[in-house]
Amino acid sequence: MENNKKVIMSGMRPTGKLHLGHYFGVLENWKKLQEEFECYFFIADWHALTTKYNETSSMKQNVYDVALDWLACGLDENKSVIYLQSKLPQTAELHIYLSMITPQNWVERDPTLKDLAKIMKDKQENVSDLSYGLFGYPVLMTADILSFNADFVPVGIDQVAHVELTRDIARRFNNIYKTDYFVETKPKLTEIPLLKGLDGNKMGKSFNNDIKISDDEEMTLKKVKTGITDRNRMRRDDKGNPDNCEVIYSYWKIFGSEDEQKEICQGCKSASLGCADCKKMLADKINQRFAPIRQKRIELQKDPDYIRQVLIEGSRKAAIKAQEILDGVVDVIGMYK
Ligand code: TRP
Repeated sequence: MENNKKVIMSGMRPTGKLHLGHYFGVLENWKKLQEEFECYFFIADWHALTTKYNETSSMKQNVYDVALDWLACGLDENKSVIYLQSKLPQTAELHIYLSMITPQNWVERDPTLKDLAKIMKDKQENVSDLSYGLFGYPVLMTADILSFNADFVPVGIDQVAHVELTRDIARRFNNIYKTDYFVETKPKLTEIPLLKGLDGNKMGKSFNNDIKISDDEEMTLKKVKTGITDRNRMRRDDKGNPDNCEVIYSYWKIFGSEDEQKEICQGCKSASLGCADCKKMLADKINQRFAPIRQKRIELQKDPDYIRQVLIEGSRKAAIKAQEILDGVVDVIGMYK
């Protein structure tokens, strides 16, 4: 892959089947990026262990499901390098070198780490301290990114602090070893049309308010029916207000054409359209939109070894680039060769 394209890298934890929030917030964007950049997308299974080291029974399935969703949604293993973090030992080695030069207080002040620590403590009474691995999580993420000396990392706003830390560590490396080896990685913020969960909260697996990419039509309809609408519209004959329709109308803004949105608006305001019918129409729109993706997902599933081959082959390709970069690091530091 010798070229002068800018390098993009990003990853996701193996949380299992992905939902529509992942699709609009992440995957659609990655799919576009792979047309233009040299892209590395990986499943962060080591990162999953930082908090779930004792819940590994679903690890294999979750990795499989994430990779399957990625491919079904149009990530293309011939355009992007799609790999599994734990199949790339170069990242682990780079992590050691980076951990030596990272001041402890840089890691300590990481904002997401504080949140994570709190969640951990709330959940598991017997885990009173952060593990060494969880503590080092931002440095591991830095190692992921610098394994490819990435120019840009597309992430959500919650991960920007980590990419800034990556830049700080890279700069420190360059200063210490008097080099300009690492580039200044920049976050690439996605303009996400934020898709709420069906209950109005952030869409998430653990909140049980999501629609999965892989849900079938019936399940999609069943879930859409639970979506929050205008809470003041109690009876079918009440006139509604789409501006107060917390969830369902916000979905229309993503799934409906302008004309359709107008039509829904009018129907709601005049009470000619009831919430139940509106939801049915919305579910149809969602199902139409995801039909090809769901179909492809079913096709891909027919060869149970396909996903594994993609991940192994992708990891092999990733290792070629990561090894080159690591060799340079070893050189710059001045290790015995
Ligand atoms: N920290 C990210 C998350 O929890 C996953 C991740 C790990 C990542 N390493 C990365 C994302 C490198 C982008 C680049 O979602």
